[in-house]
Order: sequence, then structure tokens, then C-alpha cells
Amino acid sequence: MKDVKGKVAFVTGAASGMGLGMARAFAEAGMKVMLADIEAGPLQRETDALKAKGYDVACVRLDVTKMPDMQAAAKKTVDTFGKVHVLSNNAGIGVFGKSETCNLKNWEWVVDVNLWGVVYGLQAFVPLILSHGEGGHVVSTSSMAGMVGLSGAGPYNATKFAVVGIMETMMAENRKTNLGISVLCPGAVATNISTSTRNRQDDYGGAAPPSSKERIADVLAQGLHPDIVGKQVLEAIIDNQPYIFTDPTMRKMIESRHRRLMAGYDWADKCKALAGQKQSGALPSNMMSE
Ligand SMILES: NC(=O)c1ccc[n+]([C@@H]2O[C@H](COP(=O)([O-])OP(=O)(O)OC[C@H]3O[C@@H](n4cnc5c(N)ncnc54)[C@H](O)[C@@H]3O)[C@@H](O)[C@H]2O)c1
Repeated sequence: MKDVKGKVAFVTGAASGMGLGMARAFAEAGMKVMLADIEAGPLQRETDALKAKGYDVACVRLDVTKMPDMQAAAKKTVDTFGKVHVLSNNAGIGVFGKSETCNLKNWEWVVDVNLWGVVYGLQAFVPLILSHGEGGHVVSTSSMAGMVGLSGAGPYNATKFAVVGIMETMMAENRKTNLGISVLCPGAVATNISTSTRNRQDDYGGAAPPSSKERIADVLAQGLHPDIVGKQVLEAIIDNQPYIFTDPTMRKMIESRHRRLMAGYDWADKCKALAGQKQSGALPSNMMSE
């Protein structure tokens, strides 16, 4: 999307952190923005602050784990601004723990928010974006934890790899459409994610203070300001950039993973079970992203 002025964006998790950074950057670029979040107080406060600066913004409270909430938010966006061009599936929570021992309610919570929240966003908004023919963009927030397995974060990693998988699939499906697709993979960003349990719904155990000061909180506090990420996402939408990495010094983590993947092929080349087998070497070309 080269020209964003006057276009309409919908952002989840917009009351805090990177979602708020995106809402600010989009509004400053002349876009109309619907801010959406589960936390009603900060949502209203941040929306009012943007309105006070003269920006054309509105807000809707939603829980991204509820499809009816997402559908109501989509309706409110179109009723308020006429149409919608940009979807940012950004709301997310952090759950730490090993896959095999993490409390199952927390496992379900992180999957419901970080994965189902994205799926519901896509189902409610992408048909609306495609319906007007003016083009648009979808960006979903994954993480470096969607690129590389991180010790002690199995459930979170599972959801963030899933988001990368969905968005890579949509890149392949939209090679010839006017719908741009991006996946945001932030490194450390100074947001409120280390207090995610403030928003835990009753179905998953209810709100609670962070159980202990996570080591990650100190690292994140040193991270980028979320407004920088908001500006970066805007630039990526304009440039139609598929992968948005916020910390170029983390490139070596991905290079190292790729070396481990290639070592898997090196092993397969000499694996006794495969010796002499004839294989296709490809998938159907229309299923590939390049
Ligand atoms: N902060 C980092 O370093 C970092 C790194 C990689 C990825 N991320 C991802 O960035 C995204 C944004 O998180 P952040 O770091 O800005 O944290 P944040 O806590 O500051 O913001 C997240 C927002 O999501 C909202 N939210 C939580 N559950 C919700 C629900 N069920 N429905 C609607 N809104 C809900 C919260 O109220 C909050 O406003 C998340 O997807 C997170 O996983 C963060």
C-alpha cells in the first residue's frame, strides 16, 4: 500500500506496547484508526489522547479469543469509517514454562489469545478488506520466538511459529492480489508484556500479578521503544515488506537455526533408510511462496 493517507486500520492490543505504537504511527500518517483491546481503561485513555491531537480514531473493547467480539469490532469499524484496509493482529500475551509441565490453563490461554485471536481477526476482517477492491494489508505479530525455539517458552513458541506459518501461507496465496502480507517478528521491545496476567480472563484462572519478576522483564526493559516498532510497521506496509525484524543483531539466531536445518539434510543424504529411494524433489508450484 503506497498511499496510506485516509485509509482505515484496525489494530488489536492497541491500548499498550507495540499495538499502541502502531495506532500512533498510523494516525500520524493520516490513517483512520480503530483501536481494539481487552483493557477498557487504557484503551479509552489512549484513544482520547490521540483524538485530542486531532486524529480520526475510535475504539472498541474486545477479547480476541471471542469470535463474536471480533465480528462486532469489524462491524463497528465499517460503521464508523466506511471500510477497512489494514488489519493488525497484534494482541498477545506471554506465557513461560516448558511444554510438558506448563499449567494446562495457561497453555490454553496462550493458544486462544496468540493463535485463535489471529485466526478470528483474519476471518472477520480479510473478506471486508478484499470486498472494496482498493487493496490493503494484513500484519500479524509473531516474535523471534516464531523463528527460533527458545528454551523455557514452549507454549509461547508454539503460537508464534503458528502465526509465521499462517502468514507465510497467506504470502503464497496473495502473490497476485493487492493484499499485502507481513509478519512482525520483534526482538526485545519495552512493553507491558511481562505483566500479561493482568489481562488473564476468568476462564483461564483470572487476573493475577506476575508470579515472580521474570528474567525476561529486565531484557525487555532495555528493548526498543514500541513507538519505533509502530513506525517500522507503517514503513513495512508502505514497502510491502513480508518479514519485519526489529533487531538486526538477532540475524545470527536465524542463521544458526538454518545451519541446524541443513545439518538435518546432510544427515538425510547419508541415512540408510532413504538409500536408493526416488523422490519428487518439489511440491506443486502453486503451493509455493516463490
Ligand atoms: N515486547 C516484546 O519484546 C515482544 C517481542 C516479541 C513479540 N511480542 C508480541 O508483541 C505483541 C504485542 O505485545 P506487547 O509486547 O506490546 O505487550 P503489551 O502487554 O504492552 O500489549 C499487549 C496488548 O494486548 C492486549 N490483550 C491481551 N489479551 C487480549 C485479549 N484477549 N483480547 C484483546 N486484547 C488483549 C493487552 O491488554 C495489551 O494492551 C504480542 O503479540 C507479543 O507476543 C512482544
